[in-house]
Amino acid sequence: MAAHFGMIGLGTMGSNLVMNVADHGFEACGYDRDPAQQKRLMEEAKGKTVTTAATLPEFIQALQTPRIIMLLVPAGKIVDTVLSDLMPLVQKGDIVIDGGNSHFVDTERRFLQLQNSGVHFIGMGVSGGEEGARFGPSLMPGGNKESYELIKPIVESIAAKSDEGACVSFMGNSAAGHYTKMVHNGIEYAMMQLISEVYGILKNVGQFNNAELHQLFSAWNKSALQSFLIEITADVFLKKDGDTPVDLVDMILDKAKQKGTGMWTSQSAMDLNVPIPVIDAAVSMRYLSALKDERVKNSKFYSFSTEKNSITKEELASACKNALHFGFLLSYGQGLQLLGVASAQYNYNINISEVVRVWKGGCIIRSVLLNDLRKAYQQDNALSNIISSPVFQPLFSQLRKDVALVLKTAMDNGLPAASLGASLHYFDAYITNRLPANLIQAQRDYFGAHTYERIDKTGVFHTEWEGKPPVVTSAQKPKEE
Ligand code: 6PG
Repeated sequence: MAAHFGMIGLGTMGSNLVMNVADHGFEACGYDRDPAQQKRLMEEAKGKTVTTAATLPEFIQALQTPRIIMLLVPAGKIVDTVLSDLMPLVQKGDIVIDGGNSHFVDTERRFLQLQNSGVHFIGMGVSGGEEGARFGPSLMPGGNKESYELIKPIVESIAAKSDEGACVSFMGNSAAGHYTKMVHNGIEYAMMQLISEVYGILKNVGQFNNAELHQLFSAWNKSALQSFLIEITADVFLKKDGDTPVDLVDMILDKAKQKGTGMWTSQSAMDLNVPIPVIDAAVSMRYLSALKDERVKNSKFYSFSTEKNSITKEELASACKNALHFGFLLSYGQGLQLLGVASAQYNYNINISEVVRVWKGGCIIRSVLLNDLRKAYQQDNALSNIISSPVFQPLFSQLRKDVALVLKTAMDNGLPAASLGASLHYFDAYITNRLPANLIQAQRDYFGAHTYERIDKTGVFHTEWEGKPPVVTSAQKPKEE
C-alpha cells in the first residue's frame, strides 16, 4: 500500500511525528540512514500503519504521488545533503517539507532551488518538543499556498488543537514559516530569561524555598500568567535529585546553552532596525551565564552592602507576578513587531493575528496572554506595536509600577535582571514624547557633519560648530592637571 506521508530522519522528533500521523488514519513510511533508528521506530509503532524503507529509492517507491516527504534532520549542511540525495528521485509536483529549525536565509535559497525544478518546498517550523511532536505540535509552514493545500489534511489532523481550531496555518511565502519559528524561539528565550530573573529575586530576596516556589508558580499558572513555561517551571521545583538528597534544580550548573535561534532573531532584528531589547538581553545573558569561571573569579573582587529589604514576601510575589506579565507581553510584542516588519521587507505576507492563533496551542510559548494579543491584532492587523493597542493600554499602566518595584529591589540587592530592565526601558522609551536623542544628533553633526533635522522646519541642517577642541593623538595627550 502506498503511504500518504514519508519522514526522513527518525530521531525522537521524527519518530514521534510519524506515530502522530499514523494515529490520525494516514499511512506513514520512515527512512533513516541508521537502521537502528528504523528498527526502534518499528518496535514503537507496532500495530500502527507505519512502515520503514531500507534505502532512499525504496522509500520514494513506498509513497503515493504527489509525494509528501518531511525532513527532520539537524539544521544546516545535512539538510542540503539530504536534498541533493532526494532531488534525482522525486518528481515534479512532489512536496518536500523541512521541519527542522533551519535559518530562514537557507530556506529562501532552498525554496527557489526546488521551485526551479517543479518540486514544492515547504519550510515548516515545528514547536512543542518531543511531547508536542507525538500528540500535537504547533506547526508553522511557509512556501506557496498551492502546496500547503496538499499537506493541509495531514497537518491539520496532527497539530495541537486550541479553542480556535488546529494550531497550524499557512504562514506565508517562501521562508515565512521558518522566520515565524525563529521569532517564536526569540520570544521563548525572552520568556525563559524573565522567569529565571524573577526566580533569582524570589529566591535571594524573598528567601522562597523550592517548595514555596512550586506553590507560587502553580498558583500563577491558574492566573493571567497561565502558560506552558510557567507550568513546567512549577514542576521543575518539585523534582528531587536522584543522586543526592537535594532538589535537582540546585544541582544544575548555571550555564545556559543555546542552539542559536535566539541569536538569529536578534541578528535579523538588527538587520531590519527593529528594537527587540528584551530578546537581545536574553540572548546576551545566556552568553554571560556561560562565562562561569570569570563570574566566579570576579565575585571575589566585589561586594555590596545591600539595603535592608522592607518588602514582604507576599508583596514581592505579587509584584513579581505583575512584572512577569509585563515582560511576557513585551516579549511577544517585540517578536510580533519584528515579524510584521520582516513580512513587509521579504514579501512573506504573514497574517500576524493568524500566527498568534497558531501559537495558542502545542508550542513552547503558548499562554492565555495570546488571547488578548489575538484580540489586539484582530482589531488592527496592521498594528505596529502592542503598546498602542487599546487592549493593552490600561494594563500596561497598571503593571508598570510593579516592574519598577521589582527592578529596584533587584538593583538594591545586586541581582541582575537584564530582560526585565530592558522591558521597562523599552516601554518607557516607546511612550516618551521627546527622547534625549537630539543630543546624539548634535554630537554626530559636531564631529562628522552628519547633519540633523529640526523640530520647527523640514529639511536637513548642518552647523559650523565653533571652538572645536584640537585633534589630539594619544601620544600628544596633555597631562592631566
Ligand atoms: C520548540 C523549541 C525547540 C528547541 C529550542 C531549544 O519550539 O519546540 O523551540 O525548537 O528545543 O529551540 O533551543 P535552544 O537550544 O537554543 O535553547
